[in-house]
Amino acid sequence: MNEQKLVDTARMLVANDKGLLAMDESIPTCNKRFAKLGIPQTEEYRHAYRELLITTPGLGEFISGAILYDETIRQQKKDGTPFLQVITEAGIIPGIKVDMGTQALAGHPGETITEGLDGLRDRLQEYAQMGARFAKWRAVLTIGTDIPSQGCIEANAQNLACYAALCQEAGLVPMVEPEVMMEGDNSLEESGEVTAEVLQTVFQQLYTQRVMLEGIILKPNMVLPGLTCSQPASVEQVADATVQCLLRSVPAAVPGIAFLSGGQSGEVASAHLNVMNLRFRSPWALTFSFGRALHQPALDLWHGKESNTLAAQQALLHRSKCNVAARQGEYKTEMDGRTA
Ligand code: 13P
Repeated sequence: MNEQKLVDTARMLVANDKGLLAMDESIPTCNKRFAKLGIPQTEEYRHAYRELLITTPGLGEFISGAILYDETIRQQKKDGTPFLQVITEAGIIPGIKVDMGTQALAGHPGETITEGLDGLRDRLQEYAQMGARFAKWRAVLTIGTDIPSQGCIEANAQNLACYAALCQEAGLVPMVEPEVMMEGDNSLEESGEVTAEVLQTVFQQLYTQRVMLEGIILKPNMVLPGLTCSQPASVEQVADATVQCLLRSVPAAVPGIAFLSGGQSGEVASAHLNVMNLRFRSPWALTFSFGRALHQPALDLWHGKESNTLAAQQALLHRSKCNVAARQGEYKTEMDGRTA
């Protein structure tokens, strides 16, 4: 394992106020998003959409890394240029989603375990040879009556740690993603407690599996009240609860924390990230690794039509700029055409 290379890659992913573009939706998830807009759910359309994203002019000015899916990492532009080459030439570090999705966790109704460890060593080696420099694994935890259970938290943390150790062995920076979902009627406080417990368990397991913390990126949820909670939280309350939870749970050796957006709108996610960076000087870089909050507006505009490509690319660039501003504490709602 080349430790310095891992540390350098992890630092580069969070450097210069940039963040990551999560464009690694699995085929079923991508198809679901297409179906909502009436876009044909075919390889051709998924290919066209991903080509649109990675060929956005100037994207590398704001985006440090892009997370791809197995189908996408093997694709080429219409002119034959491999997607990986396009991304690298744009100054963006390519990464790959390597988990195989969730399955019901036996003995734990309503809870899931993320699978994909079987054969992972070989798959990582192939991706590394292709040019990927980091990988992602997402665990899913749901808040509800008596859940998440200790069994679910521990089983997912163990899998995340085994995955992370295998990534570092293969020379890939693991992006460790334990997502506490925002569905539910739980309060902001409850979300903070569950997220802290999940993160603390994950870091115990990373330590047990001898993962080098300087060579990982953490990809957590922000601490938010559940979607159906009757008590809304202000942007400041979310920022404070999130950073407090992270300070209590994430060792300072970790170079960067890149949030998922989890269903927040682009504007709300930018506002939350902005206030965190405005109010706190934290030991880790606080950045974004958004999927929907970065490129859903682009998908809505594109709608499967080539004539909308430019407008969609501008929308992606706009959200990328807003989030770079949020890293500097300089995002303003006026950037999105709203009065403060
Ligand atoms: P969202 O930002 O849409 O939650 O996606 C991020 C991600 O990578 C989920 O695994």
